[in-house]
Amino acid sequence: PIILAQTNFTHRDNLKYPYEERGLQFGDGVYEVIRIYNGSYYLLQEHVDRFFRSAEAVKINLLFTKEELRNLLDELLKRNDMKEDGKVYLQATRGSAPRDHVFPINVSANIYAYVQDFPRGIENLENGISAITHPDIRWENCYIKSLNLLPNVLAKQEAKEQNCGEAILHKDGFVTECSSSNVYLVKDGKIYTHPVKQNILHGCVRMRIEQFVKDLNIPFIEEGFNVEDIAMADELFLSSSTSEITPIVNVDKNQIGTGTPGKITRMLQQAYEKDAN
Ligand code: PDD
Repeated sequence: PIILAQTNFTHRDNLKYPYEERGLQFGDGVYEVIRIYNGSYYLLQEHVDRFFRSAEAVKINLLFTKEELRNLLDELLKRNDMKEDGKVYLQATRGSAPRDHVFPINVSANIYAYVQDFPRGIENLENGISAITHPDIRWENCYIKSLNLLPNVLAKQEAKEQNCGEAILHKDGFVTECSSSNVYLVKDGKIYTHPVKQNILHGCVRMRIEQFVKDLNIPFIEEGFNVEDIAMADELFLSSSTSEITPIVNVDKNQIGTGTPGKITRMLQQAYEKDAN
């Protein structure tokens, strides 16, 4: 069959991508982004566990056990001679099949993973970033790390167009998370963040933060805070595998606290530094 690609007609075999792929056509898949420091994975088991949780939640059959996946991911670093700071992108879709909303029968998942160099964002970690607030228009099941990222993409782009690094999402007045990270507010020495529920992603870095605050004796209150609370915050920070623990020093053009990274944020960054090395 002849296919229209951009403005050209071509035989479908000439296309470089599988055009009837459920990840492309439906966003029917799940993914992970895993951090690498000095050629070793950070929080690998947490990512593997979550990848399996996501796949199970959307009924995608993975082709391996958790242990087999770990071994494959280790082999991937070896074959790429990866010794630097980087990240691995891992994705599973329901596979390639003629377009139909209903699951295809006897079609196996398409899975791939690749390594990329990815230096640490030293400047953002040091000085913090600015953010905007943005309505959270995503679905109810954000605990699944799904390929359907259009609302996240639009929110992050909006942030970029306002010279900001992240969009803080809110629903029914409460802050949920950011477009690609979890978010925390510090007030009077206590940390507030949205509870781990269906409507946010349980971040792997957040899981470590839950341990750091215990070790450091910092009260960690899993209660959603309001968008209006942000103006009164002493500190604000976010976490993710790519941005680690990044201070947020400005939101919607208003300075947070002193406009510089706060004490508790710094303590957590130090704990992260020790943990990741
Ligand atoms: N994003 N919330 C959302 C919506 C995310 O997309 C992410 C990660 C997080 C933080 O999760 P973790 O600590 O496990 O990285 C929270 C990745 C980095 C991405 O999509 O690129």
